[in-house]
Amino acid sequence: MTLAFVGVSVAFASSALNAQTAVAPAVLRIDAGKVAAKVSPMLYGLMTEEINYSYEGGLYGELIRNRSFKASTNGAKFWSALGGGTITLDASTPLNAALNVSLKLDASSASASSPAGIANGGYWGIPVRPKTTYQVSFYARGADGFHGPLTVAIIGSNGTTVLASVEVSKLTSDWKKYEVNLTTKKVAPSKDNTFAITTTAPGTIWFQQVSLFPPTFHHRANGNRTDIMQLLADMNPKFLRFPGGNYLEGDYINTRFDWKKTIGDISQRPGHESPWGYWSTDGFGLLEYLDWCEDLQMEPLLAVFAGYALKHDYIKPGPDLEPYVQDALDEIEYVTGDTGTKWGAQRAKDGHPAPFTLHYVEVGNEDSFDKSGSYDGRFAQFNDAIKAKYPNLKIIATAKVRGREPDVLDEHYYRSQEEMEFHAHDYDTYPRSSPTKIFCGEWATRVGSPTPNMAGALGDAAWMTGMERNSDIVLISCYAPLIVNVSPGGMQWKTDLIGYDAMSSYGSPAYYAQKIFSTHHGDEVLATSSESIPTFHWQPVARRRNGVEQAPPPAHEVPTLFFDATRDSKSGTIYLKVVNSRGEAQPAQIQISGVSKIAEKGQSITLKADKVDDTNSIEEPMKIIPVMEKTKGLGANFTRSFPPFSITVLELKGE
Ligand code: AHR
Repeated sequence: MTLAFVGVSVAFASSALNAQTAVAPAVLRIDAGKVAAKVSPMLYGLMTEEINYSYEGGLYGELIRNRSFKASTNGAKFWSALGGGTITLDASTPLNAALNVSLKLDASSASASSPAGIANGGYWGIPVRPKTTYQVSFYARGADGFHGPLTVAIIGSNGTTVLASVEVSKLTSDWKKYEVNLTTKKVAPSKDNTFAITTTAPGTIWFQQVSLFPPTFHHRANGNRTDIMQLLADMNPKFLRFPGGNYLEGDYINTRFDWKKTIGDISQRPGHESPWGYWSTDGFGLLEYLDWCEDLQMEPLLAVFAGYALKHDYIKPGPDLEPYVQDALDEIEYVTGDTGTKWGAQRAKDGHPAPFTLHYVEVGNEDSFDKSGSYDGRFAQFNDAIKAKYPNLKIIATAKVRGREPDVLDEHYYRSQEEMEFHAHDYDTYPRSSPTKIFCGEWATRVGSPTPNMAGALGDAAWMTGMERNSDIVLISCYAPLIVNVSPGGMQWKTDLIGYDAMSSYGSPAYYAQKIFSTHHGDEVLATSSESIPTFHWQPVARRRNGVEQAPPPAHEVPTLFFDATRDSKSGTIYLKVVNSRGEAQPAQIQISGVSKIAEKGQSITLKADKVDDTNSIEEPMKIIPVMEKTKGLGANFTRSFPPFSITVLELKGE
């Protein structure tokens, strides 16, 4: 492949953002007669795990927080008593072995003038919209002689306005599931509401799995929030890497993502503690991930637990590891097997008879953290067993291994803007001789919180030009983390692509950068080269090790313009992507060879900001969004000025 980054002339002096001295414009050359590589059809996808309240309090439609009362053994966290009622956790009256505790309401003081009950404020609010139907379900039983009725309601933030309510009667002393709808009238949209179940009849009632769902994407039962799904759908992602990340591993072996405990009726799922510090009901389980894939036409990229947990527990390769390998084989069968197989039949029983298409299986997550040296053996054991049963599957290793040649290696990069830009050309010189391809399974320019600002978007875009230009080896990539609940306390990891609260959601500038890359690339990478690309002088900060400041790392010259060119072989449209990471407009001369003519008119998509730390937020969700417009002055040889802090896609039409 022709190197895209050739001559460098220093147009910027020593600091990162100083003024440009006049020099000849950069020259960006595209050889349209030379296809350097195919754009990998799997290049752009999504990475997800339960972090930042991604599912519970995020994508998963459930509005009740701690619906199964297992978030704490010390009281009913996120629940409160109403009226003269008192609530306690009761382990002696469980619903079943999975949901082995219940919420006991002592409503002996209840009366018509002073109802007693239970209330839940959701994940930083219960959102309500006008003329909308919410599905309520819960398990309940009364003490002998208690029959209700119960009033199920959503109450406004003033504590008295009833936004919707419905009665449930005929309770018995046996556990029974109750399902009702709550429909709002012409109410104003609001989020600081409360869900409540009250009674005016004195007595004692036990509850379990108290659930409230808004309308979901594609109207799926136990489904997902529509606004976040739409943001994701708009990115046109090709795959979903799940279930982690650290969430796959768990802090300990017994808090890993134990997939068999996440399938079937949600009342049979015990839930587990996630490594990100909160309880997961596992209502969002393996089949829900797969349904999500189906809804957005993504391919699952399944990560299987590989015998290593975050706090360094590991399972020795050999006989000890066998049950975990079998678990992974069963999981693959659950995803791909037909209904004649044991786990394919289970999937059908769970509601999805058709198998899912799967090409990639990842063995573990970030196993370079396993200092025991066990990953070589663990990887080999998983790899060999999976290949023996599923020879067509491609296996991804999460760390370099000896003894086996993985199909794909997962590399993770969390970096500053300058680091991303400095490394944007790394893959240009990667050896092509190895059969092992690259999966950038987690990457992000970590600038901005809770979501990346324009600096983040620029670093990302520079990095994406490098991945796209080299997608003969970088087959697959996904940013991480994907989503964050921006309410106070919702975030465990800063710089997440999409933010939301109970009511609304937004894409960061980096989200839009990724969206314009993943929706404008065609299938061919064209050979490129360049000249006179300005650089800036970057001195990385000295790090501290064991409390001692280290010598500053070497300084580097870092490019300030990044580009790559791809083409849609059917239409002939060339997509030229140019990133100007600096605060001054930069001219570039574009020279296209190997094509008879390029139309003078075309289309441009530009994402730009006035300041590098400008950003989008829940209050200002659309401050920085791409602008698509018709443009002219194009051709086989033209000069164009790229605005300060900008990411531009030019659609060039061959004639
Ligand atoms: O994306 C956040 C975390 O970063 C992931 O869980 C883990 O794989 C990585 O260390």
